[in-house]
Amino acid sequence: MGSLVSFLLVIIALSLQTNGQPLVPAMFVFGDSVVDAGNNNHLYTLIKANFPPYGRDFVNHKPTGRFCDGKLASDFTAENLGFTSYPPAYLSKEANGKNLLIGANFGSAGSGYYEYTAKLYNAISLNQQLKYYKEYQNKVVRIAAANKANFTSIISDAIYLVGAGSSDFLQNYYIDPLLYKAYTPNQFSDILMHSYATFIQHLYALGARRIGVTTLPPLGCLPAAITIFGSHSNKCVDKLNKNAISFNNKLNATSQSLQNGLSGLKLVVLDIYQPLHDLVTKPAENGFAEARRACCGTGLVETAILCNADSVGTCANASEYVFWDGFHPSEAANQILANDLLSSGLSLIS
Ligand SMILES: *[C@@H]1O[C@H](CO)[C@@H](O)[C@H](O)[C@H]1NC(C)=O
Ligand SMILES: *[C@@H]1O[C@H](CO)[C@@H](O)[C@H](O)[C@H]1NC(C)=O
Ligand SMILES: *[C@@H]1O[C@H](CO)[C@@H](O)[C@H](O)[C@H]1NC(C)=O
Repeated sequence: MGSLVSFLLVIIALSLQTNGQPLVPAMFVFGDSVVDAGNNNHLYTLIKANFPPYGRDFVNHKPTGRFCDGKLASDFTAENLGFTSYPPAYLSKEANGKNLLIGANFGSAGSGYYEYTAKLYNAISLNQQLKYYKEYQNKVVRIAAANKANFTSIISDAIYLVGAGSSDFLQNYYIDPLLYKAYTPNQFSDILMHSYATFIQHLYALGARRIGVTTLPPLGCLPAAITIFGSHSNKCVDKLNKNAISFNNKLNATSQSLQNGLSGLKLVVLDIYQPLHDLVTKPAENGFAEARRACCGTGLVETAILCNADSVGTCANASEYVFWDGFHPSEAANQILANDLLSSGLSLIS
């Protein structure tokens, strides 16, 4: 039922596009590996995905740095909005000239709301992502003028997608005694909320008016999380899921108060928790054969450099798997998530 509704919404969104023009002039993306389209390729970091089998189902079977066999949910979102190409990764060589007129992707795997998460992995912190966005504006004001494009509209009518928080918990809080002994998950979430609010205020000050922020996924159902934190059970780790739900509730409340305080801002929380949880608990009903193990390698832990061309056991058909690697959904799952995002994000484009 839910997927039928999402499907219809995709059709509606596609039919709203006039003369093949996208519904919005541009799309900007900020966050962690959930949305990184290749920025980490240009960093000195271990958190990369620009080698096979990553990207094997992407356009031209090309690894791009996306943590997926194919497209990310943000790529499907760009398609659903009517774009025929994706906003380029800001550090890539494609990010120049006219290509920048449809926006840019500043996401960086291993980044997060907590400044130190990015430092730990030498990823691009959200503060640095904002600095890059400012730099983008300075460049594009000229590019727009040269191409008779409306710069104000590119900035204020664009969709801004923010997806972070997973790395803050999985790649930082849960594995760092200095953090988990100092703060309860609830207190840590409050710290993240504080930087989230600051981030949104800065983005607003820079001209953003339509912002969608994704929730945390069910952290305890990610294959590597079950292996590492599940004490030999094959079930979703309840404690991690509870922490994610509590974070998501705070995200809702914080977003509501931000929206109330910043005039003209549309800020929508895009839920990926429930749709991904549904895929994990009812894979067969959604066309998947496997939800515990990821496709890459043994499917129990591998991500980044551990998921590579020599990984033993990588599956033949990732579309049968909810997860591509230990922490990231497959393209097939991302497509379903993106359709759900569209239904909750429709108010941003209307
Ligand atoms: C540029 O876009 C802004 C925001 O949508 C709009 O208010 C303005 O009228 C546009 N300017 C021109 C010259 O079309
Ligand atoms: C957040 O708010 C939306 C409505 O804006 C609601 O549909 C959703 O259930 C809420 N999520 C949580 C985790 O409270
Ligand atoms: C891969 O799996 C999907 C989903 O089960 C199926 O629709 C598709 O036909 C499969 N592709 C191949 C090449 O077997």
